[in-house]
Amino acid sequence: MGDDMTATPWWQDAVIYQVYIQSFADGDADGIGDIAGLRSRVGYLSALGIDAIWITPWYRSPLHDAGYDVSDYRAIHPRYGTLSEARELIRECHAAGLRVILDIVPNHTSSAHPSFVEALRASPGSPARSWYHFRAGRDGGDSPPNDWLSVFGGSAWTRVQDEDEWYLHLFDASQPDLNWDSQEVRAEFEDILRFWFDLGVDGFRIDVATALMKAPGLPDLGYPDGAFLADLTRPNHPHRDRDEVHEIYRSWRKLADSYDPPRMFVAEAWVDDADRLSRYVRPDELNTTLNLFYLKSAWSPASMRTAIDSSIAATASVGAPTTWSLSNHDVERVVTRYGRADTRRIPGVSGPELGPVDERLGRRRARAAALLTLALPGSPYIYQGDELGLADAQIPPAARQDPIWIRSGGRRWGRDGARVPLPWTTDGGSYGFGDDGAWLPQPAGWGSHAVEAQDGDDTSFLELYRQALRLRRTHPALGGTNAVTWHDAPRDDVLLFTRSPGFGCVVNFGPVPAPIPLDGQVLLASDGADFDGLLAPFGAVWLDLDHATARTRHEEPGAR
Ligand code: BGC
Repeated sequence: MGDDMTATPWWQDAVIYQVYIQSFADGDADGIGDIAGLRSRVGYLSALGIDAIWITPWYRSPLHDAGYDVSDYRAIHPRYGTLSEARELIRECHAAGLRVILDIVPNHTSSAHPSFVEALRASPGSPARSWYHFRAGRDGGDSPPNDWLSVFGGSAWTRVQDEDEWYLHLFDASQPDLNWDSQEVRAEFEDILRFWFDLGVDGFRIDVATALMKAPGLPDLGYPDGAFLADLTRPNHPHRDRDEVHEIYRSWRKLADSYDPPRMFVAEAWVDDADRLSRYVRPDELNTTLNLFYLKSAWSPASMRTAIDSSIAATASVGAPTTWSLSNHDVERVVTRYGRADTRRIPGVSGPELGPVDERLGRRRARAAALLTLALPGSPYIYQGDELGLADAQIPPAARQDPIWIRSGGRRWGRDGARVPLPWTTDGGSYGFGDDGAWLPQPAGWGSHAVEAQDGDDTSFLELYRQALRLRRTHPALGGTNAVTWHDAPRDDVLLFTRSPGFGCVVNFGPVPAPIPLDGQVLLASDGADFDGLLAPFGAVWLDLDHATARTRHEEPGAR
């Protein structure tokens, strides 16, 4: 790649675009996104102005959990293409100035993975079973070994056929948890990392990074009768955020640093305690962690400011940069969440239980949120389709595929609504996603959000993202990891911060226009409508403070 790899590490402020591969672009017209489709859109991605892509699992898999159930970590699933296509993609991305991050799934394999197949065939107590967590059941084998529950719902144990032993799976029964006390498991994963690093991959997102180590003896959690969903919030949790997990990541970091240029890791760590979260990004551990405080925050000035401050404080305490994301493939899209009266992300609940959605409002807020997010220091993540302002789609029950929907017997909607194939053209069989058809149904009218419909339209979501990303690259205050300075705002529903040199961001969370309390030239506004020099309701602006306009200053900000 053309830039100086010895300067500030690229991952500190990279804009990372999440490619949910089966829904990005379909190159072979089978209705499923693939590497050929992705390769055909590298130009789109580099013109968008991002720095890297994170590709969700593309490995060989029976696809019971969209590929987070891997049966061969060194092979591409044939429906996505081949290893040589993967190699070409990496080469083409690098040539276009884009880094490539893959998703590694170390907590569990697929039940179709050869090591699990072998473990099942082997007898209880045999070395082959030591790769996983097999235990004798209680009550003479009839009850699970402990009371742990799956994150997707129901018991976290499945009984081996014709045996008293059960195996542990914190997710679906098709995803048996690996035993990370096994040195063989550790060696195997380091080998997998090397395999992809040698192929040119720049980093990994670590799936469920907090769950690998389990408390010795696998003690009960003491769930009340009838509990269905795993509770991940308890302190000293027996299968979450154990201190012993850090040793694994220290070893991975050494491995990544042995490459030239060094490779990086980003942890998926749903940890609510900022101090505990920061441990994952200590200088000799992982480089960054996904920011779930920000992703879960309600769209309100107090909540967003707290999420921003606590995220920066947590990572800065160990010298790591902060990341930001508004949505991903596991949660509702930001337009949908922000279109509700309660804009928090409420775990374990989705769909109509959360109340009606006003998508128009959600879009206005999501545009403002895009400007807020891209103005922050550190590394923002963009989930594919958020740059088009897509909302969650209503998937007919018969078409839903998420194991959450299946395991809950239809009680929980699951995540399919956020995973619908992208619209590239305004019409056509699958709106340009492929030739015809898409693996999850695209709703009527999907084409109105297509890239083709938004391209070149200055008022579109896509052009807002493009302009923001362009400015983020060129404005000296943007990007980087330097702090934000908050200022008093004229009203409680307005947030206002500056970054040096000469940059201001003002966000109006309220329904009425607000004065813009800084002198400066508007660089970019989330809402192009003219509000008489005022900031639009639910809008945000970026200001160049070194080039004040003749616009009247409404109020003097006082630095807090
Ligand atoms: C992934 C999910 C997946 C789960 C199990 C996660 O957190 O992002 O999509 O279902 O891990 O692998």
